[in-house]
Amino acid sequence: MNTRTVSLLILVLCLLLHLIDSLDTLAPNGTVKDGDVLISQGRRFALGFFSPGNSSLRYVGIWYYGQPERTVVWVANRENPVNDTSGVLAIDRHGNLVINEKSSSFPIWSANVSSMSSNDYATAQLLDTGNLVLKHDLSEVVIWQSFDYPTDTFLPSMKLGLDRRTGLNWFLTSWKSEDDPAPGSFSYRFEPTGYPQLFVYKDRAPYWRGGAIIEQLPGGAPEMTNDFISNLTIVNNATEVSLMYGVINASVLTRYVVHESGFLKHFMWQDEGQRWTEFNYHPKELCDYYSKCGPNGNCGANTADQFDCTCLPGFEPKSPGDWYLRDGTGGCKRRQNVSLCRSGEGFVKVKRLKLPDTSTAHVNMSLSLKECEQECLRDCNCMAYAIANKSMGEHGCLKWYGDLVDTRAYSDLGEDLYVRVDAIDLARYRKRSSLVKKAVVAAISVSALLLLLLGSLMYCLLLKRKRADRRGRNPLVSVTTSSTYCDELPGLKDLDSNGRRKTDLPLFHFGTVAAATNNFSSANELGQGGFGSVYKGVVDNGTEVAVKRLSKYSGQGNEEFKNEVRLIAKLQHRNLVKILGCCIQEDEKLLIYEYLPNKSLDSFLFDDTKRSLLDWGKRFDIAYGVARGLMYLHQDSTLRIIHRDLKASNVLLDVALKPKISDFGIARICGGDQIEGKTKRVVGTYGYMAPEYAIQGRFSIKSDVYSYGVLLLEIITGQRNSGCYHLNPCCHLIGHVWQLWKEGKCMEIVDKSMDKTYSDEEMVSRCIQIGFLCVQRYALDRPTMSTVVFMLGNADAVLPTPKQPAFIDESSFNGDIQSTCNLTCSVNGVTNTVVEAR
Ligand SMILES: *[C@@H]1O[C@H](CO)[C@@H](O)[C@H](O)[C@H]1NC(C)=O
Ligand SMILES: *[C@@H]1O[C@H](CO)[C@@H](O)[C@H](O)[C@H]1NC(C)=O
Ligand SMILES: *[C@@H]1O[C@H](CO)[C@@H](O)[C@H](O)[C@H]1NC(C)=O
Ligand SMILES: *[C@@H]1O[C@H](CO)[C@@H](O)[C@H](O)[C@H]1NC(C)=O
Ligand SMILES: *[C@@H]1O[C@H](CO)[C@@H](O)[C@H](O)[C@H]1NC(C)=O
Ligand SMILES: *[C@@H]1O[C@H](CO)[C@@H](O)[C@H](O)[C@H]1NC(C)=O
Ligand SMILES: *[C@@H]1O[C@H](CO)[C@@H](O)[C@H](O)[C@H]1NC(C)=O
Ligand SMILES: *[C@@H]1O[C@H](CO)[C@@H](O)[C@H](O)[C@H]1NC(C)=O
Ligand SMILES: *[C@@H]1O[C@H](CO)[C@@H](O)[C@H](O)[C@H]1NC(C)=O
Ligand SMILES: *[C@@H]1O[C@H](CO)[C@@H](O)[C@H](O)[C@H]1NC(C)=O
Repeated sequence: MNTRTVSLLILVLCLLLHLIDSLDTLAPNGTVKDGDVLISQGRRFALGFFSPGNSSLRYVGIWYYGQPERTVVWVANRENPVNDTSGVLAIDRHGNLVINEKSSSFPIWSANVSSMSSNDYATAQLLDTGNLVLKHDLSEVVIWQSFDYPTDTFLPSMKLGLDRRTGLNWFLTSWKSEDDPAPGSFSYRFEPTGYPQLFVYKDRAPYWRGGAIIEQLPGGAPEMTNDFISNLTIVNNATEVSLMYGVINASVLTRYVVHESGFLKHFMWQDEGQRWTEFNYHPKELCDYYSKCGPNGNCGANTADQFDCTCLPGFEPKSPGDWYLRDGTGGCKRRQNVSLCRSGEGFVKVKRLKLPDTSTAHVNMSLSLKECEQECLRDCNCMAYAIANKSMGEHGCLKWYGDLVDTRAYSDLGEDLYVRVDAIDLARYRKRSSLVKKAVVAAISVSALLLLLLGSLMYCLLLKRKRADRRGRNPLVSVTTSSTYCDELPGLKDLDSNGRRKTDLPLFHFGTVAAATNNFSSANELGQGGFGSVYKGVVDNGTEVAVKRLSKYSGQGNEEFKNEVRLIAKLQHRNLVKILGCCIQEDEKLLIYEYLPNKSLDSFLFDDTKRSLLDWGKRFDIAYGVARGLMYLHQDSTLRIIHRDLKASNVLLDVALKPKISDFGIARICGGDQIEGKTKRVVGTYGYMAPEYAIQGRFSIKSDVYSYGVLLLEIITGQRNSGCYHLNPCCHLIGHVWQLWKEGKCMEIVDKSMDKTYSDEEMVSRCIQIGFLCVQRYALDRPTMSTVVFMLGNADAVLPTPKQPAFIDESSFNGDIQSTCNLTCSVNGVTNTVVEAR
């Protein structure tokens, strides 16, 4: 061994020691040169110089360590890049963190901390949270941290909000562009005045509002909640108002970003595939944009690209002309000559709203709802009130003065708002709601009788032909009304948002379609569903199509029908069946779809020979595809579509056995899915219907999640859910699997025909668990579809323990419905019933 090797070895050792020493720490006299990096102890984050996008300028930033593409979460010198590679990050003599460069004698960026005593030193350390902290060496006091100066990314354990004492405001600002991290137009911050809320601002103007913090949650961002991925902490006290979130499993990577396009995006890291996936984003729908319908206007739950503004009770359009031209931004004003002060006025309850902007609201947490009403009534300037904290047994009082700004309706979320109206309006709403109540009561008694009769009839029939064809399984149709106060202006619906006529939907001639389907011959019939029969057809150019001939009970006009089809036809996703056009002739309404030769999932799953074609991999792909399609309907499309009749026969398979959801939006097309206040047609299939939907007619995205859970369990077991809310769990697929699962024997029920096609029992049992999470009794407990997609896609994600599924607990059903259920569940035919929607 010669001296050269020895010195080389020593050099290498020194280098190694140096590296180990300074991996995550910048020592008092240390530097980070361009090209060096600090790496946090757990190798999660790295800090160093980088060039964003196509820019050649150099910035100091923090990014995730070891990912194929660099994702920057923080930038120091956002506005002062270094021109060349001469930049150096250092701690200067005063213990200040600075960036120096060759051509400049003073720092181009500084953390601006000083007042360092001469015998103390400061050290900077990059933590595994992504935080760069500057500490006194001796006292270990943190004098500066990057988390206090966020750029565009909100990381777990970071704070957004306001320190009321120091005035320090933690907020995010977007980059200017992908190439330029300088502050852009959009910021995401807490607005502490009135009752605190989160806002995305565009320049200085509100762009999107997260909503008031009701029940510890930012109300307008219902997806940003405590689930099993993250936990939120909201503080609102004398010293600070802030929002923080943590991840329950620390190895899950997640971040929120204010993108330069103005969207607040939520990303999750997928280990599998090594990439970030966008988990959620806001604003999502037209109605989410701030004050879309102006002061006192209410943006609809049907957030299509159609005009959807109404006025809150007691208000009318300020400028009916603009309103007519589909410009709602002018908002609404009080009706003329109303007297709102001590002359018999009162409050009208508006359900499921995003509460108005609370910047000018007053809050008193010690009042009950009743006291709140009295307080508001007494004060003639109080325009509306709402509960501020539902979790305290309806305690806490929010009162609004002046205009009510930025409300929107939800079909399944939101809070109740009580709006002040004069005596005349009050009488009108009272009358209407009592009329509706009477109608509903009458309808229920009549229908209960009918149902009983029909049910017994069917039961008898059934005894004769027990296992007959199950294709068109008992859809339950119900019609209800509920109170409304907003009338839509006529004649607007056939204009698009620019006021032009819409012409983009192919209209087929009835003659053509009739010819294509051999005059709807039974030989061409593919199946029957809740809304009518489906036929196979061949149009002129040889293209095969599927034609759905809708039953005639749609109460909708032709124009409305066309508009709805037009909207639905715009939804495009690889897991949704494509709508090619429609056809209207007098009473006949037809929908023309792409034709899928492999028919529906049930024709495979429940067929003794064809089921073996579906090995575990295919089944998983089908389950995953359906979940993605449903997620698209729920949150990614411009319309929020609740399918309401998801089942195996509504999942079609293409040539490659990829799933496509069909019949989505059909309730809407048939005029059954308007915002509260119109006739509702509730459709579903027992066995797939969530209890709250089957019994109370309340549908939501969570009732779809329930149906998905049933479908998932069917896919795994290859057995039908009997559709019986029966007390004996053994007669019932979910109950049966649940019992086995509790005993740890759930693999026994997995479809035998896919034996050996799964190598990973754990994966199968995970899917069963996900199925159970979806069929939990309370809608609130069920995950959203985006969570389901995440759980399916991440084999490592820790799953919560499901609570007992819906069916077993008898207390959730009242006697009448129970007997109805018992009868209906075993019936093959079609049953009509009427139940109250809410
Ligand atoms: C840093 O450098 C200064 C001046 O070169 C020196 O006085 C001081 O002792 C050094 N500090 C440490 C911790 O090495
Ligand atoms: C960088 O430049 C390439 C080629 O000009 C372009 O395709 C790409 O979109 C650019 N990337 C960014 C982030 O601007
Ligand atoms: C960086 O380069 C630009 C143009 O190339 C020049 O105007 C600017 O003065 C340079 N800045 C520094 C700090 O050298
Ligand atoms: C430090 O102070 C300077 C001058 O007041 C200011 O321009 C700069 O933005 C400050 N830097 C930071 C990181 O706050
Ligand atoms: C407010 O909350 C913060 C965080 O929980 C806490 O540190 C602080 O002491 C609280 N202030 C008051 C006045 O309660
Ligand atoms: C979130 O939960 C984890 C684990 O339960 C806990 O360690 C962490 O402190 C929580 N974070 C917040 C912000 O509550
Ligand atoms: C409002 O009241 C005034 C005076 O009572 C009356 O002249 C006017 O016609 C009323 N306007 C409407 C729209 O009723
Ligand atoms: C809240 O209401 C109670 C009862 O009316 C009153 O005594 C209290 O002063 C109010 N608090 C605030 C902060 O207004
Ligand atoms: C709402 O009430 C719950 C239960 O008492 C309480 O823990 C929570 O802090 C309250 N939320 C707000 C925002 O006051
Ligand atoms: C957290 O997730 C990782 C992978 O994402 C997994 O390996 C680990 O077991 C989970 N931790 C806990 C406590 O469940």
